[in-house]
Amino acid sequence: MRGMLVAGNWKMNASLQSIETLINGIKQGLESVSENCGVVVCPPSIYISKVNELTQGSRILLGAQNVCEEDKGAFTGEVAGTMIKEFNCTYAIVGHSERRNIYRETDELVAKRFAAARRAGIIPILCVGELLEEREAGNTEDIVGKQLDAVLALEGIDAFADAVIAYEPVWAIGTGKTATPDQAQEVHAFIRSKLAGISKDIANNIILQYGGSVNGANAEELFAMEDIDGGLIGGAALKAEEFLKICAAGK
Ligand code: PGA
Repeated sequence: MRGMLVAGNWKMNASLQSIETLINGIKQGLESVSENCGVVVCPPSIYISKVNELTQGSRILLGAQNVCEEDKGAFTGEVAGTMIKEFNCTYAIVGHSERRNIYRETDELVAKRFAAARRAGIIPILCVGELLEEREAGNTEDIVGKQLDAVLALEGIDAFADAVIAYEPVWAIGTGKTATPDQAQEVHAFIRSKLAGISKDIANNIILQYGGSVNGANAEELFAMEDIDGGLIGGAALKAEEFLKICAAGK
C-alpha cells in the first residue's frame, strides 16, 4: 500500500539562522508523526548542503525546488540533478506553478526536467494544476491531463513508478483559499484513473499530494480523502509547529 508524504516547499524563504531553528524544531516533534508518513523539506538550493548537515541521522528527507533539464554545461544559474544528488536530495520538485507561470516553463520543458531528475536517481515531485480562469471555464481536467501527457509522451508510464504527483490548483496557492476536500479529491481521482487507464499497478501505488494553502487546521480532512496521500506545503512549512501538525495528519 502506498504511504503518505508531506513535503515542505520553502520557496525563496530562509536564512542560515532560520534554517537551524526550523530543522531543530521539526526534529524535536517527529515522534508525533506516523512512520507511514515521509517528511521532506525542500530548501532554496544554496541551503541544501547546510540542511543536509542539520538533518543527518534524522528521518527528514531532502528535496530540491527544481532541477535543470541538462546534466551539465553552459546553463548559467541552473543546478543539475547530479549536483543535488551529491548533497543527499531524494526528491526534486518539477513544474511548480511559480516556475510555469513566472518563469514560463512549458509542459515540454517540465517533462525534460522530470526526466533529468530521474536520470540523476532523484524522485521527481511533478506539480500539476489549473489557473482560476481555467477552472471557471470547466477546463481543469484538460489542463491537468495535458500536463501529465507531456511527461507520459517523453518518459512513458513506467517513469511514474518512481515519481510523486502534486495537484496544486494555482488559485489555492498562497491565497488562503484551499480547495475543499471534495474539489481536491475529484481531481486526484481523475489523475489516478488517467494513469490507471495505462497501468493499474502504477496508478494504485503512486503518491498524489495536494498543495495549496494546506495548514494545521485543514490537513486532516484533506488527507482523509481516498486519493490524497499527503501534501506539498508552502507557507505553513516555514514554522516547525505548524508543519509538524500537517505531518501528523498523514496517517
Ligand atoms: P502554499 O503553497 O501552501 O503557501 O499555498 C503551496 C505550494 O506552492 O507548493
